Amino acid sequence: MLKIEGLHTHYGNIHALKGIDMEIDDGEIVSLIGSNGAGKSTTLNTIAGLIHASQGKITFRGKDITNVPAYKLVDQGMSLSPEGREVFAALTVQENLRLGAYSKKDKGAIDASFQRVYDLFPRLKERINQQAGTLSGGEQQMLAIGRALMSEPGLLLLDEPSLGLAPNIVQQIFGLITDINRQGTTILLIEQNANMALSVSNRAYVLETGRISMSGDAHELADDSRVKKAYLAM
Ligand SMILES: Nc1ncnc2c1ncn2[C@@H]1O[C@H](COP(=O)(O)OP(=O)(O)O)[C@@H](O)[C@H]1O
Ligand SMILES: [Mg+2]
Repeated sequence: MLKIEGLHTHYGNIHALKGIDMEIDDGEIVSLIGSNGAGKSTTLNTIAGLIHASQGKITFRGKDITNVPAYKLVDQGMSLSPEGREVFAALTVQENLRLGAYSKKDKGAIDASFQRVYDLFPRLKERINQQAGTLSGGEQQMLAIGRALMSEPGLLLLDEPSLGLAPNIVQQIFGLITDINRQGTTILLIEQNANMALSVSNRAYVLETGRISMSGDAHELADDSRVKKAYLAM
């Protein structure tokens, strides 16, 4: 579904991605783990068309999408839930969700997407008219994921959904990620929380200062002594 070949990204003279190769098949959950500053968000934002790639190729559903801007990728079936959630604080839950479906015209399709999101996240349904800025951190994370789902993406990109959340909320969010995947959405998950990420993923890549250092089956990586030492605090 998604193929990344020799991807490089720069911020001015900072060489953040130094030749990344990754592949995601239809129906998978794939995680990209790595320490703070490794280049995880840069990878996701380059795929999503928010940052310019300086070299390399990104193919999505057989089409070259390298440096195609984000708003066009939404129509092609790719959607991002950004790091730090970035919900619109002054808008209500429903208004935030509606923005995720901005490119859809058909009222029936939009209503069906609302229904799907409210079924997945009953807490959002209870808070339809509440301002997003007054939600808890976990609820804001649900809203960010829900908003990304409103465009009915085939590929959902999640940037650190566990960041800053209490362990029981993290459990809940990861359970929902699994549910979303079971409904047929392919997921690329970016996490510092390697333990949780590996536990829900089929495969994973480890990113170290702009390069992929390891990759493979998620459960095998979780058992790998180098991964344990560096990322699982064991
Ligand atoms: N807007 C930016 N301008 C300059 N450097 C940046 C910018 N965003 C990220 N970087 C740098 O790129 C590297 C990778 O950052 P990032 O992708 O955010 O890492 P991660 O998401 O893995 O924590 C870091 O060295 C970071 O300082
Ligand atoms: Mg990041």
